[in-house]
Amino acid sequence: MSSPSRLAAEAGGADALVVSNTILGLKINIDTFRPAIGNKFGGISGPGIKPIIVRMVHQVSQRVKIPVIGCGGICKVEDVVEYMLAGATAVMLGYIIFRNPSALIAHHRRAWRMVREARLRARRRPHRRR
Ligand SMILES: Cc1cc2nc3c(=O)[nH]c(=O)nc-3n(C[C@H](O)[C@H](O)[C@H](O)COP(=O)(O)O)c2cc1C
Repeated sequence: MSSPSRLAAEAGGADALVVSNTILGLKINIDTFRPAIGNKFGGISGPGIKPIIVRMVHQVSQRVKIPVIGCGGICKVEDVVEYMLAGATAVMLGYIIFRNPSALIAHHRRAWRMVREARLRARRRPHRRR
């Protein structure tokens, strides 16, 4: 989505924005000299697109006030943390669900473990003077 469309979506009353979707790619069959898929271009998903979309989330979240939902290449909990640090309020998983359907449960458990450990660390840390 281009920058004016993002702003238009917010001005038009969108509750949130999903950033992004797949990124269009082209695979050429070197035997036939033709595109490998009938539709010519195809959407690329998975880990390779993550840095591009984390960058988009970072840029979009600075321009809009509505929540930004990050989507692209999330394979582990650390990826979710990265998206949150870039400005996402929530995330969506695509590719990883196809690759490993139980990943969602593992992500969820690991995320909670990380939150618990972070809370414990915060409790153990001596209070700083303001
Ligand atoms: C098999 C598959 C089917 C998808 N179908 C749709 C779709 O019907 N509509 C859509 O907007 N996005 C669709 N997507 C895109 C995903 O919603 C997601 O935006 C994209 O794959 C990037 O996230 P990911 O890297 O976690 O997969 C599809 C992705 C995959 C892998």
